[in-house]
Amino acid sequence: SVTVPKYYYNDNKRSFAYSTARSRWPKILDGAIGDISNLIRKQSKNEDNDSAYLEQAKVIESQLIDMKDELLSNKELSKFNNSEIPGLDFYDKQIEEYKKYLLVDNEEEKLSWLNSAWLFSETYFYRRIDVIVKNQDLFEDYDIFENLKQDTFKSSHFGVEELAIHYKQLHYEFLDKFEKQKASGEKIEEKVLELLFDEFAEISLWGNATDLSLLTNATLKDIQSVQGKEARKKSEEYILINELDRAWKALYHGGKNGDGKKRVDFILDNSGFEVYTDLVFSLFLLDSKIADEIVLHCKPRPWMVSDVTKKDFFLTIEDLLDKDGSFFGERVVHKEELKFVGEQIQKYYERKQIILKDNEFWTLNSGYWDISGKKENKELYDYLLESSLIIFKGDLNYRKLTDDRVWDRSVDFSVAIQDLAWSKLKMLSLRTCKADVVAGLPKGKDEELCKYWESLGNEVGELWCSSGKWAVMSFSDGKQQ
Ligand code: F6P
Ligand code: MG
Repeated sequence: SVTVPKYYYNDNKRSFAYSTARSRWPKILDGAIGDISNLIRKQSKNEDNDSAYLEQAKVIESQLIDMKDELLSNKELSKFNNSEIPGLDFYDKQIEEYKKYLLVDNEEEKLSWLNSAWLFSETYFYRRIDVIVKNQDLFEDYDIFENLKQDTFKSSHFGVEELAIHYKQLHYEFLDKFEKQKASGEKIEEKVLELLFDEFAEISLWGNATDLSLLTNATLKDIQSVQGKEARKKSEEYILINELDRAWKALYHGGKNGDGKKRVDFILDNSGFEVYTDLVFSLFLLDSKIADEIVLHCKPRPWMVSDVTKKDFFLTIEDLLDKDGSFFGERVVHKEELKFVGEQIQKYYERKQIILKDNEFWTLNSGYWDISGKKENKELYDYLLESSLIIFKGDLNYRKLTDDRVWDRSVDFSVAIQDLAWSKLKMLSLRTCKADVVAGLPKGKDEELCKYWESLGNEVGELWCSSGKWAVMSFSDGKQQ
């Protein structure tokens, strides 16, 4: 058996954690402070403003400023206090988790903002912001990142429009083709479905990066053609591990669940363009009847700035329908195509073929290894066992699958995910690399990329893996012995 390595720490200069904690977190706090300051400014101008609301906003603002000071001066992480959050029972369990960790009475274990395990202090960071906001009862449902999420989606209108056109076109092409084949009693060619599956999976993968230029524009014919394959190859050069074929087999050739359904679960990551690509992928799976049901697992609170909450799902539909033209407005020409995507999502949601869930598990401080072992997680675990394929989106999910530990980058993915490898869960991770941890690379690949990254003038070669340029699509059937 392999020894489990230590965590990535944010005082390690060769880790992306180092700059994240020192320069990105303060900026994220500045953004949150800016959001609340704007709200205060607007409210103050409003003659019949609600003074209680305004007062509470000011408390939030000043506590966020204090938090930033504590971070910049590397103070010890302060403990959560149950009385800080009266009446919210569901918090207790998680606050306990943090307390257990933070209450360790061990000098060496004193955790400070800039000297702690990266995954722990980062989840703590978002949890602290959430508690500061929710402590003010008039702000219990306030999402301090909502304006930012909405603005970013708006500014990705170019990619949004392009993908809507692409989906609508493919939708009619493949549906047409399938209808004709069905009518003539012909068996639908698996290869065509699999190619489309790969196409939509890759779009959803690159939705996790900021680089929209990797999006393809191909028709069904192109996708099957040599040119299409070549165009795809260009972006595939950056995909270091591609195990989509294994995911396809599990999904397409696997049986139905206890409800007689084929279900695909998405453990979502970001709002905006990314979730839009996940939704388009979902539409394809439903349109083609490869899946009967899609379950979208959202975060139960604003998280890691842009992660999807249930509310963000509904906002995305509203944005696409853009009924009064105030969202995308004149930024897009193909309004009909956007509307089409919005209506398709709505249709499946109303038919209960798209289902929303959220669970506290996704915002715990810990990784995901103990999902199958801890009784607190039993309900979620049992639910996920009924899935034909669980798609984990994005970087943070990958860090949690591998527990954000310093794995040798050529160690098997099945080793790096430990208990999950024999959990019976069928998991596909679609992740552009934006942190240090990665597993499953061919021997020598990491060394090659480190050298390449340094040759571009970067000081720390290892940080190629945090640049967001490369990606992995790793699969586990959960059946490792
Ligand atoms: O870039 C650093 C970071 O903040 C990581 O901490 C985190 O894993 C990632 O960004 C979030 O990325 P994603 O939205 O893909 O999970
Ligand atoms: Mg995210």
